[in-house]
Amino acid sequence: MSEKTDETLANLLKEDRRFEPPADLAEHANLTADAYDRAAEDREGFWAEQAERLTWAQKWDQVLDWSNPPFAKWYVGGKLNAAYNCVDRHVEAGRGDKVALHFVGEPVGDTRSITYAELQDLVSQAANALTDLGVAAGDRVAIYMPMIPEAVVTMLACARIGAPHTVVFGGFSSDALASRLEDCQAKVVVTSDGGYRRGSASSLKPAVDEAREKAAGLGHTVEKVLVVRRTGQDVVWDDSVDVWWHDAVESASTSHTPEAFDAEHPLYVMYTSGTTGKPKGILHTTGGYLVGSAYTHWAVFDLKDDDVYWCTADIGWVTGHSYIVYGPLANGVTQVLYEGTPDSPERGRWWDIIEQYGVTLFYTAPTAIRSFMKQGREIPDARDLSSLRLLGSVGEPINPEAYVWYRHVIGGDRTPVVDTWWQTETGSIMISPLPGVTAGKPGSAMNPIPGVAAEVVDEEGNAVPNGSGGYLVLTEPWPSMLRTIWGDDQRFKETYWSRFEKLGYYFAGDGAKKDTDGDLWVLGRVDDVMNVSGHRLSTTEIESALVSHPKVAEAAVVGAKDEDTGQAVCAFVILRDSAVGDGASDEQSDIVAELRKHVRKEIGPIATPRQIMIVPELPKTRSGKIMRRLLRDVAENREVGDVTTLADSSVMELISTGLSSGK
Ligand code: WT7
Repeated sequence: MSEKTDETLANLLKEDRRFEPPADLAEHANLTADAYDRAAEDREGFWAEQAERLTWAQKWDQVLDWSNPPFAKWYVGGKLNAAYNCVDRHVEAGRGDKVALHFVGEPVGDTRSITYAELQDLVSQAANALTDLGVAAGDRVAIYMPMIPEAVVTMLACARIGAPHTVVFGGFSSDALASRLEDCQAKVVVTSDGGYRRGSASSLKPAVDEAREKAAGLGHTVEKVLVVRRTGQDVVWDDSVDVWWHDAVESASTSHTPEAFDAEHPLYVMYTSGTTGKPKGILHTTGGYLVGSAYTHWAVFDLKDDDVYWCTADIGWVTGHSYIVYGPLANGVTQVLYEGTPDSPERGRWWDIIEQYGVTLFYTAPTAIRSFMKQGREIPDARDLSSLRLLGSVGEPINPEAYVWYRHVIGGDRTPVVDTWWQTETGSIMISPLPGVTAGKPGSAMNPIPGVAAEVVDEEGNAVPNGSGGYLVLTEPWPSMLRTIWGDDQRFKETYWSRFEKLGYYFAGDGAKKDTDGDLWVLGRVDDVMNVSGHRLSTTEIESALVSHPKVAEAAVVGAKDEDTGQAVCAFVILRDSAVGDGASDEQSDIVAELRKHVRKEIGPIATPRQIMIVPELPKTRSGKIMRRLLRDVAENREVGDVTTLADSSVMELISTGLSSGK
């Protein structure tokens, strides 16, 4: 463990408040303490039991086939349809009139509530329309959309016809979209003219047009683009490719028979950042993924039939997949789907929504909580938040202060806070308190949930004793685990399974600590991956974007501690000789602005560096590896650490002097 994580931990562990589960929640809890033992005694039996919460067209013969690790097969021989499980079966059970989605558009008053029966019609129509556009089982469909009901409908329609979807976050650039379209060879893209963000209509369709062209340049042809009219913005139209949603979907039949697919049929590909420049297409399959997301959503949120649930994530991330679409809908929940930003038209918007819809279960990210803390408690205090009974946190470590504020100000000190650790790769929550069982500690994700086996290990893979830190691993396979990286089994093996190959452990890439009670504290990434506002970014990906600019010779990127966003992107850049002028400061600031813009264009606004420092040299080891640890020291305004392994130990001095003199 680095000095940095030890220091963070020392602060965290000073926190010794404990919050017992509320008595009535504990009394009626979905999952009780005995589940831990039951699951540990017969893990596969436990997962077979959890699979019974779904409706299978054909039951499995074998819970887990782990004969060819790390390639797992769960519920072997089982057949099911994910969309049927998320929609139709609720209607068939007489719950068609229950609201599935309370959609809240960003423009105030733009709302729409959709029942399960209505959702069934919409999904069937979209499934028929996609089929008419030539999409068959196994074809990939890309989704690049705002948070509107049609996005959920499209995902379910894809699942219904067995066409794996790949949702690309609407904040990603056309370049990022193009490389994903090419990587998974998407046949059709579903998008909209635009969506409402921060009080105005922002466009999406132009980025799809550009991406389609760029993908063509990479040798891949997108056949059709299905476009929802959301904002009414002008769009450039190509009749040979573009199809309006209201033409194709709204005229389609509302009857559609879902086909049962193999439990291991691909459900979706979600791209996420790794330690190299190329994003990884994480593949999830149908049966195990749906079991994992439905079970965890039921257990961790203690879901009851009359709950009103709201997860503020975007469907462009895995949280939106597992905890807006698949888990909640498989459980037949009523939920809020909100299109916009928390502060539009003004800062109390989220709390207004909670009050208006009587939200009982709320799931958001620490970065949002910290920004509300900054704005002050008067804003939430002015709303009635008494409907809330449970709060969740996800995406990055939650600092104890934010946890306590969340529980106190938002939860009125009644609500448990579940700090849920998981990843795109794990598909569903792995480590979390159980709200009716666990006495929560602010800042700790506590324990692996029943059915999941996690450990903190040293370099050799030995479990560390309580009170020590190490690497977070998952020691047994689990149903919602990724099955591979799309098109790259080798990278899948190397990235996750090679580190502790003999032991067969999944290496998560996070550092963690077991406190003296044996509870887990996740400390953050131990690899070249950053976490900015709960979004995962690769240092190498941003470095590649920077060096693709003609003025840049070399670049190094680090994630530096940031009070608001957890980490922030800090870049150190060496300019090409031709771009180095006389070092005048206005000239430098022009270049910095230009480079920030360039990164936005290449990847997207979330990757824009907070800070770009022009430097004469970068610190490298004798083998040429950039020592990011030292750059992090500079970015976090710390004294620079041990420089003895540098090829040229004077480099750090050169960097620091250059920066302080403004050159
Ligand atoms: C990485 C995964 C999980 C869905 C959203 C992010 C960090 C996530 C926590 C938490 C500490 C957390 C980890 C993890 N992370 N949740 N509760 N406590 N760290 O998914 O983009 O795949 O990122 O987010 O570093 O490895 P993702």
